Amino acid sequence: MFEQPNSVLIAGAGGGLGQALVAEVGRRCPQARLLTISRSQPPSQLLQAAANRHLCVQLGRPEAVQQVREFLRRQAQLPEWVINCCGILHDGDHAPEKSLDQCSDEWLLTSMRGNLLTHLHLAQALGPLLSRGNPLLWASLSAKVGSIGDNQMGGWYSYRISKAALNMLVKNLAIEWGRRLDSSCVVAIHPGTTDTDLSKPFQKRIAPGKLYSPQLSAERILEVLQGLKPSDSGRLLFWDGQVIPW
Ligand SMILES: NC(=O)c1ccc[n+]([C@@H]2O[C@H](COP(=O)([O-])OP(=O)(O)OC[C@H]3O[C@@H](n4cnc5c(N)ncnc54)[C@H](OP(=O)(O)O)[C@@H]3O)[C@@H](O)[C@H]2O)c1
Repeated sequence: MFEQPNSVLIAGAGGGLGQALVAEVGRRCPQARLLTISRSQPPSQLLQAAANRHLCVQLGRPEAVQQVREFLRRQAQLPEWVINCCGILHDGDHAPEKSLDQCSDEWLLTSMRGNLLTHLHLAQALGPLLSRGNPLLWASLSAKVGSIGDNQMGGWYSYRISKAALNMLVKNLAIEWGRRLDSSCVVAIHPGTTDTDLSKPFQKRIAPGKLYSPQLSAERILEVLQGLKPSDSGRLLFWDGQVIPW
């Protein structure tokens, strides 16, 4: 039902998975008009086509809502797919917390901005533009460690907390847009451990064969998305399409 979109928006397009998804959408959906959002300039594959189709914005800031809405209003059509890749696990000064005493307000709030508000603001920008007849597939890249039901190990407080909050946002959006639109599917998806800047500091501990290239993860994600139906809405999905408990 959502197999061949006419228009696709990818946010966080400058990240490892974002760039790979841009390339893979180009391969699988050559007819789709591709829109990108990033804090940086357009991904290199898009430079020629980028005029008017790329927005450079800090999605985590509140003013992004209006900027993105104006960007979407300027487009010939609204995106039928939205894939939001924004997320943060560490920076130069912060690593994931192993225990409660390593938690700080500052890093938790930064994590909420990077993992939750970047998705909330994009939804707030798009929501008022949607009308009942618009088909919409929304996929937020989340993480299995954001599942409360699946949490066996603890730790990684700020990342887990902010991804769990993102998961609740996705569930709420699935309900609200499911009521408003004739045809929608809103999911969170775990891409699998992928070789990007986000996973770099932790790759030594990953079992052989369990660290996937961005291209392979992008292929898997799009394989799942192309098979989704409105009845799949409101789920957290593994990269092979299996349902992960919230
Ligand atoms: N890699 C993995 O193993 C793995 C595993 C599980 C889940 N994930 C999830 O998959 C998604 C993509 O991750 P990735 O591996 O591609 O990581 P990445 O290369 O670090 O890319 C993440 C992108 O998120 C955007 N971003 C981060 N903080 C932001 C902020 N405060 N405001 C606005 N945008 C921000 C940036 O996009 P721009 O540069 O375009 O602005 C950044 O490049 C994330 O949500 C991550 O949590 C990844």
